[in-house]
Amino acid sequence: GKNGYPFYMEKEIMEQPEAIENTIKNRIVGGMPDFTADGVPDTLFTECEHICIVACGTAMHAGLVAQALVKSILHMHIEVQMASEFMYSDPVIDEKTLVIAVSQSGETIDTLEAVKYAKNRGAKCLAIINVKGSSIARESDYVLYTNAGPEIAVASTKAYTTQLAVFYLIVARMAHSRGVFDDAQTQSFVRELQRTPEVMKKVLERRRDIHVVAKKVLGAKDLFMIGRGLDYSILLEGSLKLKEVSYIHSEAYASGELKHGPIALITQDTPVVATVTQEKLMSKELSNIKEVKSRGADVVVFIKESIVGDLAKEYEIFTLPDMQDEFMVLPASVALQLLAYYVSSDKGFDVDKPRNLAKVVTVE
Ligand code: F6R
Repeated sequence: GKNGYPFYMEKEIMEQPEAIENTIKNRIVGGMPDFTADGVPDTLFTECEHICIVACGTAMHAGLVAQALVKSILHMHIEVQMASEFMYSDPVIDEKTLVIAVSQSGETIDTLEAVKYAKNRGAKCLAIINVKGSSIARESDYVLYTNAGPEIAVASTKAYTTQLAVFYLIVARMAHSRGVFDDAQTQSFVRELQRTPEVMKKVLERRRDIHVVAKKVLGAKDLFMIGRGLDYSILLEGSLKLKEVSYIHSEAYASGELKHGPIALITQDTPVVATVTQEKLMSKELSNIKEVKSRGADVVVFIKESIVGDLAKEYEIFTLPDMQDEFMVLPASVALQLLAYYVSSDKGFDVDKPRNLAKVVTVE
């Protein structure tokens, strides 16, 4: 049942601290990431030369976050491919490619076909899956289950954040096995990941503040979400979530790219949601936020607590509890899920069953 919540989506958003706990707890041994119980050998991580992530929708967005982490921490070649485009894009993959397939259901046909294609080319395939024994799990060489529990709402929430948690563990394990991280660096990265449930709880406890923010975008027909780097990756997912449950046309845009065209669409009728979670990008992001504000847009900013300064004087703000920058995706995602949820439920929609959508997509 819904455990007293009006919708599964809210229940599943609220379950995330526990879901993340279940994803990581048996995979940390002596403070180190450990996939022994999953049967995933280190050779998978040491023998590959590049990585290709295949997935659809929300699962692909988890892959985009992983891509940023792999580049900045492992300095490896990595690409993220929409599974539906993969086979028709002449992908450059071979025996040296580690293909990582990401899927909640494990039944998405595009992702399943991509895995079969990659295996035919000699690539090793690791799957990150929620549903045990599903088709993609069976087809792949190795599986890391997300252990999020059943996800009933069509809009994916806890599946996404647990996919992220698995990716953080993979990056840590890979960095250690490839000699990029020493023991101490690996343990400190894992310790930060272990803070996630507590940090997410802080966001969830303040969900009423997000409900207040949600009222600001309720009436919008069109909306932009802007950010750079990891902020942009988070917003692609936040924007998909808002689109599918609230039916507001929302576009996530890299904020530096905005002035190369779409800023023409910014008026007082297009609210803008921004995330500012990466200290090194902050000053550029803030100047992009100013640009849209000066075009008349109402701006809502989700910003890391420790860098908020006096921004609340000028903008509608929600502060995100601090984590190290590369982990800020986790609290920010929960906040954006809540934003989409409140807009949808305030509009009186059937949040769990958006029109035209199905939980499992088995047609190409
Ligand atoms: C969005 C959503 C979809 C799925 C996509 C892939 O909320 O749920 O975008 O993420 O259809 O599904 P799985 O993960 O089952 O392969």
